[in-house]
Amino acid sequence: MSIDYTQKIPNNVNLADDRTLQRALEQWQPNFIQWWDDVGPEGSTNYDVYLRTATSVDPQGWAVFDYVKMRDYRWGIFLNPADANRQIQFGDHKGEKAWQDVPGEHRANLRRIIVTQGDTEPASVEQQRHLGLTAPSLYDLRNLFQVNVEEGRHLWAMVYLLQRFFGRDGREEAGALLERTSGDVNNPRILGAFNEKTPDWLAFFMFTYFTDRDGKFQLAALAESAFDPLARTTKFMLTEEAHHMFVGESGVSRVIQRTAQVMNELKTDDPKKIREAGAIDLGTIQRYLNFHYSVTIDLFGADQSSNAATFYSSGLKGRYEEGKRSDDHVLKGQTYKVLEVKDGQLVEKDVPMLNALNEVLRDDFIKDSVAGVGRWNRVLEKAAIATRLVVPHKAFNRKIGALAGIRMSPEGRVVSEEEWKANEGRWLPSDEDRAFVASLMGRVVEPGRFANWIAPPAMGINKQPVDFEYVRFG
Ligand SMILES: [Fe+2]
Ligand SMILES: [Fe+2]
Repeated sequence: MSIDYTQKIPNNVNLADDRTLQRALEQWQPNFIQWWDDVGPEGSTNYDVYLRTATSVDPQGWAVFDYVKMRDYRWGIFLNPADANRQIQFGDHKGEKAWQDVPGEHRANLRRIIVTQGDTEPASVEQQRHLGLTAPSLYDLRNLFQVNVEEGRHLWAMVYLLQRFFGRDGREEAGALLERTSGDVNNPRILGAFNEKTPDWLAFFMFTYFTDRDGKFQLAALAESAFDPLARTTKFMLTEEAHHMFVGESGVSRVIQRTAQVMNELKTDDPKKIREAGAIDLGTIQRYLNFHYSVTIDLFGADQSSNAATFYSSGLKGRYEEGKRSDDHVLKGQTYKVLEVKDGQLVEKDVPMLNALNEVLRDDFIKDSVAGVGRWNRVLEKAAIATRLVVPHKAFNRKIGALAGIRMSPEGRVVSEEEWKANEGRWLPSDEDRAFVASLMGRVVEPGRFANWIAPPAMGINKQPVDFEYVRFG
């Protein structure tokens, strides 16, 4: 399954055999480059960046590393190999052959699923476009750019599906994906978290840890789809997503490591003194975590959703690791616990599982997120610091679902509006926190040097040394 790079659009789907599709994609390509130039990484046009590019979709040796100008990155269409005998694993069509085309009755829903996923990809590039100006090191700058080009590639993945399988509607949707803009009042991105700002590098690391992980769970659920081309393309996207979460987890970990070092040097846990020494106090890190976690779990949607039931039963979207579950994969008559507020208390109630599949995916995400927070705490443990980071209760700061608008402490206690107001600045990043973090952001571009607020990584990229020249400025 090697990728043909002799084509204008690199691909492993024999694009040259489908002239109509090839022409449609070649018409979209310059618009994509224009979008990249307009709202992609600011001021980066002449940089040579040490990037990896996919050479094949095989698990071994799928990437080569070399200096690339980002606008010349070979974005293309890469699907995992087809399995001619693949069967549908869940829902009402369980046991039937997977679909190679879109059944008419599922066309509207599938299009909506693909457009919603596709919309998040360019959105994050837009959200991150100014970060290169304040990179804490060349190593981090390169990682940011790698994430950005791969999100661009993920957009290509969804645009391929739209153009290949959805005719004129698909072409229109592919165009609209380049027209909506993150945070734009008139034409925003579809999902809330993708219209938030990513104003500084702590926010970027939290975003890639939590919000790219939402991507992992959504893609994993779509990788189960009865619509085989969607399953195959999301499977390959998942291999790229792993790096994004690594950037987030290791980034936050290095921030904590540096903070712990300053705390031990100064023998203090006073946030003021830690800030004066140019490190980020643990309280601020916790508040950033609270914000990004709560905004991200909203992305899974309403706790009860008839759409979620339809998507599952009709085979469009499965559960995370569907194949590893031992139930009947149909889920009729089963129940799941969701939360609601009754008489000022959070209570659990049983609802039909099919309607609660957003909540099931959210809970899988939560388990996965908590594991990494545990790894961050080990950095503190090693440094003999008693403070621990925790994820807030899943009802905290929610804007979507039954818990939206209910005032809740991070521990999951229902609080009054007054108590919320009095504590908001301790629970979520305040303007002052954000201004402080912003004040630390300065550009460090000398190979091997790192900003004062973050520790160097344990090793470089692709076995290169940490002081490697990861970006060359033209
Ligand atoms: Fe992505
Ligand atoms: Fe990602």
